[in-house]
Amino acid sequence: MSKVVIISGHPNLNESMANSKIIQILGALNNTHVRCLDDLYPDYKIDIPAEQAALIDADLIIFQFPLYWSTYPAIMKKWFDDVFTYNFAFGPEGDKLKNKKVILSITAGATAESYSEGDFNFMPLDDYLESALHPLKAAQVDLVDSIVTFNMNSDTNEGGNVDTVNRLVVEHADRVKAAISHTINR
Ligand SMILES: Cc1cc2nc3c(=O)[nH]c(=O)nc-3n(C[C@H](O)[C@H](O)[C@H](O)COP(=O)(O)O)c2cc1C
Repeated sequence: MSKVVIISGHPNLNESMANSKIIQILGALNNTHVRCLDDLYPDYKIDIPAEQAALIDADLIIFQFPLYWSTYPAIMKKWFDDVFTYNFAFGPEGDKLKNKKVILSITAGATAESYSEGDFNFMPLDDYLESALHPLKAAQVDLVDSIVTFNMNSDTNEGGNVDTVNRLVVEHADRVKAAISHTINR
């Protein structure tokens, strides 16, 4: 049976509404292994061999993260910096992740409309994500899906709504589950 690894880039899941619940739902699926970077590496000292081994072992890698300034949080950036090394993810022998199936699963606090020219977030989210995708492109992974849910704002001081987030979490997890079964059954 195909193995799925979920790399969680939330910096503090104890204070998360959306990512913590999505991870709970997805982590309960068969043959799914969750690696929560905040829990594993509170000091940001990444165990590179362990991370590389987990990626090699997986048939499908899911990157689960909240959008922070239109990219992944710092701990996930550090993880990419450390784990995507020469001759692992790029370079003459850097084909260890080549054709590995990858899904991005992203929560965003802003509205979808705000990601447009002249609006609060200035340009489409896909444009921002180009640099976030750079290490994955270099590693020649097979990016099968990017699942983004906007309005994941549970902070009532910032106009958010907990009930809305709870509903969106279930819808988001359903979309990721569908993408997982589509990917591992194709
Ligand atoms: C430092 C920081 C930066 C953020 N930047 C963005 C952003 O650029 N775009 C956006 O849509 N949401 C942004 N948000 C909102 C988060 O994406 C949102 O709170 C998160 O997805 C909710 O997930 P959680 O409940 O698991 O924390 C930001 C939040 C923080 C704390």
